[in-house]
Amino acid sequence: MSEQVDGPGLIRDIAQRYDPFGAALLDDPYPFFAEAQAATPAFFSERLQHWVITRHADVREVLRNTTLYSAANTLETLKPLCPYARQVLVEGAVRPPPALTNNDPPSHTRARRIANAAFTPRRVAQMEDFIRATTRRFIAERFRDGRADLIRDLAWELPALVIFDVIGLSDEEVHRIKAAAQNRLLFNWGFPSDEEQTALARDTVALWHFIQAFVQRRAEHPGEDFTSDLLRGRDEGAGGLSQGEACSVLLALLVAGHETTTSLIGNAVRWLLRDRSHWDAVREDPTRLPNAVEEVLRIEPSIHTWRRRSLAPARFGDIAVPSGANLLLLIGAANHDPAVFADPERFDMGRMNAREHLSFGYGAHICLGAPLARLEARVVLEELGRAFPDLAIDPDWQMQVLPTLSFRGPTELPVFWRN
Ligand code: HEM
Repeated sequence: MSEQVDGPGLIRDIAQRYDPFGAALLDDPYPFFAEAQAATPAFFSERLQHWVITRHADVREVLRNTTLYSAANTLETLKPLCPYARQVLVEGAVRPPPALTNNDPPSHTRARRIANAAFTPRRVAQMEDFIRATTRRFIAERFRDGRADLIRDLAWELPALVIFDVIGLSDEEVHRIKAAAQNRLLFNWGFPSDEEQTALARDTVALWHFIQAFVQRRAEHPGEDFTSDLLRGRDEGAGGLSQGEACSVLLALLVAGHETTTSLIGNAVRWLLRDRSHWDAVREDPTRLPNAVEEVLRIEPSIHTWRRRSLAPARFGDIAVPSGANLLLLIGAANHDPAVFADPERFDMGRMNAREHLSFGYGAHICLGAPLARLEARVVLEELGRAFPDLAIDPDWQMQVLPTLSFRGPTELPVFWRN
């Protein structure tokens, strides 16, 4: 950066340097986020063609205000579709109707009521025994000889098996769905070449057809699972979900419903082991775990940016944003905003307001699966703490992440312990 740049010059400089796919930001976006947030509440990124919003109050307001900001763009491919990829999607008849994530009121309100009624607190609470038993099984079978990869051997598969159990899908699909979910993250939130994008479009077609066939089977032979409840659900006066809308809900669950929790578990172990006193503290007093998990969510959110579109001209400080603009909300920066979180770079397990993070979004779209993700993180950490009091991270390890705009978590995490 040049010295002594004026306000507009500094903002231009920040906008030019914002490269979410560059090595520096993939490695650690937080120093840049802090710098951008201190300089300006908003800037326009030519590279992404999005207005980038940096501060907690603004990010929360955009998420909250469904009248002025639409969620319609949240699932659009960041890189516009090339003609080949478009053709693949057209021929595959992939047209997920908006249901939850990329829908707006009143249609979202109806779909969300039905999804809430199917995804009950009781259904979540019932998962605790399954989560604990599966964690213990993976530890017994896969954590051997004093070494393991926490992602490969536990966090990669567990959340997928949990969500499969909820929606009624067979465990045998786990490898197919995990691969498909990663490809979908790269398709929607990556910046693939045309050739890669076309291949990823084919994967999207395969995933969509798989979901359609599964929902069709459930429509014909309903059971006791979430999918069957979703298809049975009716919103007073507004009717039920179409089969296509139910497929869209499942698509959300089969992508974001486990990749994000894999990242949360990886991030939680990483932050708690950075300083052994944290690991020891939650082992000795597991009642401290729920707030520790909130602090992990705050300091290292699995989804660190999210999108909206303005429906009217808006202002962020002195910066005017036109109607119809794509906005990129820096959830990661908002969670480190010193106006809300004192000493924001410090990992503080006892932070009183850790739950003010925006990692699950805010308002009408707030994450449907947040209680399940919290439960999974708590149970896994309880079990790991019990089994491995002296767990440590390989000192040579360096965090690698998938190259996406929004999803962030370690792809591997080598750990060791004394046998
Ligand atoms: C650590 C784990 C997770 C994180 C960080 C996370 C994060 C998010 C975020 C940021 C949103 C967007 C909110 C908004 O637009 O305001 C969201 C929505 C959503 N999440 Fe999660 N999520 C997680 C786990 C899950 C799980 C386990 C499920 C499945 C049960 C799930 C299902 C959904 C659904 C269906 C939506 C759309 C809700 C709507 O638009 O009404 N998520 N999540």
